[in-house]
This record gives sequence, structure tokens and C-alpha cells, in this order.
Amino acid sequence: MIILGIETSCDETAAAVVRGAGDKVEVLSNVVASQIEIHKKYGGVVPEIAAREHVLNILPVINEALEKANLTPFNSLFVRRVEAIAVTVGPGLVTSLLVGVETAKTLAYVWRAPVVAINHIEGHIYANFIKPPLPPSSGGRQRTIKFPAVILTVSGGHTMLVLMSGHGQYKVLGETRDDAAGEAFDKAAQLLGLGYPGGPAVAREAERFTGSDAGTGRIKLPRPMMDSANFDFSFSGLKTALFYQLERNKDWQERVSEYAAEFQRAAVEVLVAKTVKAAKALNCQTVMLSGGVAANLELRSQLGKAVAEQLAGANLIIPQFTYCTDNAAMIAAAGYFRAKRKDFVPWQKLKTEPNQELA
Ligand code: KG4
Ligand code: ZN
Repeated sequence: MIILGIETSCDETAAAVVRGAGDKVEVLSNVVASQIEIHKKYGGVVPEIAAREHVLNILPVINEALEKANLTPFNSLFVRRVEAIAVTVGPGLVTSLLVGVETAKTLAYVWRAPVVAINHIEGHIYANFIKPPLPPSSGGRQRTIKFPAVILTVSGGHTMLVLMSGHGQYKVLGETRDDAAGEAFDKAAQLLGLGYPGGPAVAREAERFTGSDAGTGRIKLPRPMMDSANFDFSFSGLKTALFYQLERNKDWQERVSEYAAEFQRAAVEVLVAKTVKAAKALNCQTVMLSGGVAANLELRSQLGKAVAEQLAGANLIIPQFTYCTDNAAMIAAAGYFRAKRKDFVPWQKLKTEPNQELA
């Protein structure tokens, strides 16, 4: 089944074409027009500007995705070849979502193609279902996803532990009570003068620090809610603790990488501990990672170690880097599994759901 995915929930205009068969999803094209350079000077996403950029980019991006997948628009045959359109309806910025949703609706009307409405978080989760390029050494074997699975979703807007008991079946086990993990990275970067987006900047800076005493004495940040008896998170205190430490330590500018390393370590430790705790408590054999912060190397490696050491026989599934941050291939992948179940929305009823919860 050939699916066109459309994603405009925040500041990336994205379109992708995937082919789904059985339980496998293969990406035929994946186009992302990033607005990072535009929002950089404001230190964050400006919704009004994001929406205007989506309007400029959406059709060229879709056109490019179709061309790269060898589906030429304006060709009558093509109409039959896109078998469903998957679009992000929420959560996200309403003015941004509107652009993708209205475009999907129009294409569905013109092409007579069915539409699937996708939750953005569900999209992030399905980045794990995209077929990875198989390294020759793997002998063609892929790690299998077995339900129930625990998924740690960490992005700029969300931090959640989700129990997935089957396709489209989710239970939110816990979430952040204040800032999202990605947001915390972004704010820490701002405090440390590292620019925007903060996640990759903090990670790069942390990597420069090779001192053996990171986090063991000189600089120590809290691990918020590490031992709480639930699966919730809190990151605003971590950011505040960093702020006060910088205020107190006048020489901090000479030790930026040390602060970045300890900040990253604190955030990663809490995320890893809670994820493993959830997988243990719920007897899950599969752990998945998703969202923009899933691109963080320290998180990937620490979670890998913890799963191997503490969850006997369990598998950790991690998306390829390209599919961690916002993209439409993950939306199309989620769309494929919904389309398989014929979970379509009549185009007349398609609408944005800016505060939609994962259900
Ligand atoms: O999933 P995403 O593209 O957008 C949302 O749905 O929010 O996530 C963006 C977030 C940003 O906060 C960014 O700083 C963070 O992901 N991020 C990272 C890394 N790459 C992106 N955080 C930590 N380490 C990274 N390597
Ligand atoms: Zn996202």
C-alpha cells in the first residue's frame, strides 16, 4: 500500500511517501523543509511565521516527495497509486496544523483518496516501524517488535512513557509535569549561550568534556523525580538548578562543556531509569525510543546499556537519526497501519486537534 504522509505540526514542513506491506514499512521519499534558520534569531518557534512558511513550502515539498517516489502529480494514473493520505492533525500549533490538514483534505477530494488522521506522538512512535537499511553483517535479520512494548517519547513538546499493547493501542504511563525533555535541553543551551536548537548544541558541547569528575563532585545537578513512585518526569527544576549554579559560579564560562555534560547526564539518567522501571513493572520485552531527543547519542547508548543489563532478553528499538526529529515518513508509517485497519476519516470531517491526546 502506498501512503503519502504530511506533517506541519510545528516548524518543519514535511512530506513523504512510504510503501507498507505486512508489518514492514519502506520509505520511498522523505522531504523536510526546516525553518530552523528562520526561528533561530528569536530563540524559539514563532507560530505566525511558521504558518506562513508552511503555506509557502507545502506544495513544493509534496511535489518533491511525489517526484522522488516516482509518482508524478497531474498524471491520472498517479491518483490510483497513492492509496491513502496520512496527515498530522495534532497535537501542535493550530495555525501550522491547519496548513497540512487543509492540503490533505484538498488532495483527498481531488484524488478521491482516503484520509488517515494521525496523532503527532503516534507518528514519533511509528518511526520505530520504518525498515532500517540492513547492515550486511546482520544477515538480513531485523529485531522484532513484540507487544506489549514500552516507549519513551522525548521531543521539544512532549516527554512521555507509553505502553503500547498493539497497533493503535496506547496507555500513557507517565509524562512530564512541566517542561519537556527537549525543551529543557533548549533552555539549558540558552543559559549556557549555546544557541538554538539546544539539544544538538548541548550534546556537542558535552562531548568535548572528557574530565573524569563530570557529575561526581565539582558540578552536581539534581535528578528530578528519580525515585518517585510513578512514571512522571519533571525538568523545570533541573533547568532552574543550572541557572542558580551559573549565577553562583562566576567562572562558568570557562567550564561550559562540563556544565553541558552534567546537564545531559542528569536528564539522561532520569529518562533511562524510569523507562527501565516501566518495562520491568509491565513485563515488556520491547523498549522503544522516539522523538527529537532520541537523536541524543548519550541517551541511545545509556538506554542500550540499561536494557541489556537490567532487562534480560528484552530488545531496544531505536529509530534511524533521520526519523527522530519531525518528519512525514513517520506519519505515513503510522498512517499505513491505520489504513490497514481501514481507520479512515471522511475528508469532510478532517480537522485540526491542537490538544489531541494519544489514544
Ligand atoms: O520531535 P522534535 O523534532 O519536535 C517536537 O515534536 O517537539 O524534537 C525537537 C527537540 C528539540 O527540543 C531539540 O533540542 C531536541 O529535540 N533534540 C535533541 C537532539 N536533537 C534534537 N536533544 C538532545 N540531543 C540531541 N542530539
Ligand atoms: Zn515532534
